[in-house]
Amino acid sequence: IRHLRQCRNYSSKAPDYAFAFDIDGVLLRGRTPLPGATKSLRKLQDNHIPFILLTNGGGKHESERTEELSQLLNVPITEDMFIQSHTPFKGLVGRYSSVLAVGGEEVGEGEGWNDGKIGKSGEGGVREVAERYGFKTVHTPHTLLHHHPEIWPFGCPQLHHNLHHPSSPGHPHHHPPPLSPIDAILVFNDPRHWGPTLHVIIDLLLSTRGELGTYSTTNGIDVPGKGKYQNNNQPDVWWSNNDLWWQGEYHLPRLGQGGFRAAVEGVWSKITGGEELKAETIGKPFKETYAYAESVLNGLLKKDMGEQAKVKRVFMVGDNPRSDIMGANGYGWYSLLLETGVFNRDREGGEAALKEDMKPRQILKDVEEAVDFGMWKGG
Ligand code: G3P
Ligand code: MG
Repeated sequence: IRHLRQCRNYSSKAPDYAFAFDIDGVLLRGRTPLPGATKSLRKLQDNHIPFILLTNGGGKHESERTEELSQLLNVPITEDMFIQSHTPFKGLVGRYSSVLAVGGEEVGEGEGWNDGKIGKSGEGGVREVAERYGFKTVHTPHTLLHHHPEIWPFGCPQLHHNLHHPSSPGHPHHHPPPLSPIDAILVFNDPRHWGPTLHVIIDLLLSTRGELGTYSTTNGIDVPGKGKYQNNNQPDVWWSNNDLWWQGEYHLPRLGQGGFRAAVEGVWSKITGGEELKAETIGKPFKETYAYAESVLNGLLKKDMGEQAKVKRVFMVGDNPRSDIMGANGYGWYSLLLETGVFNRDREGGEAALKEDMKPRQILKDVEEAVDFGMWKGG
């Protein structure tokens, strides 16, 4: 961090430009850095050019993910330069007290439960993220299935494991909270078990007041004079991004949270005779996400350059035309699309197949070329 602090000592005047990097398909493929990723970020730091990471990824607390990214990229990444899809969920703490947190590792990976090692985080995973954000009562599909395993008739060892694990020294047993009405379903990241997670969400959407196990008779059934579907205070639904595809280790893109959402909405439509599942969505490409990212970027400058500092031009480096590029174009950032992720000339039918609002300013080979281009253009 000290090294970073030195790097952050920007030149006397605020730098004329900055970068915002997507992660999956730009800097990393899964846990493997893409060629030139480390070198490029180091080059920016050595030249005192500010940058942030802006990902639709998530599922871990920002403190945990930045620590992991610093190790994977071998570049110091701190929370004040890092935005993931669900970071803005912090703003919902005042609105909801009991939530269902969905996605990510529902119990810490190798943290205290699976192998007895004292993990960094309690039960770890998405429940810890929501609790650290400040939500009073946090359920997960994992904790609900602990109460009623028969909800998913086929058993799911991964979901039942761990909660029965004896508490390890200095690691309090993280009991699941007692069942309570759920005010909101917050999808932090892709669930690891679509089946039981989808079923729990559907159960809550058909419930009365978010009480698991109840069934609201007016749902999906014609009620004379009451219309097809009454809002019985079912939980609100928040998606932290809409990515249908993302770029992992496999050479072809993987279905993301947008894929899981399509599954939930498909089942919901089927059982309600065509009702649309109302929900809120954040993350890239939405303007609010880019406005938040700009405030984070200016925050970095203000720390060293004083209250007046404001970034003039931002180069957004992304691999997904529908999130990174569309969002950057919509917010007036300079969009650079790479060929190391979701976008692929052959699969996409080339640049010509891109709709107007997702056409990048430039298409470049990889992150190294993007940084060189930005420094040349912005410098
Ligand atoms: O879940 C991660 C995926 O949706 C995309 O992440 O870093 O490419 O925005 P990223
Ligand atoms: Mg990406």
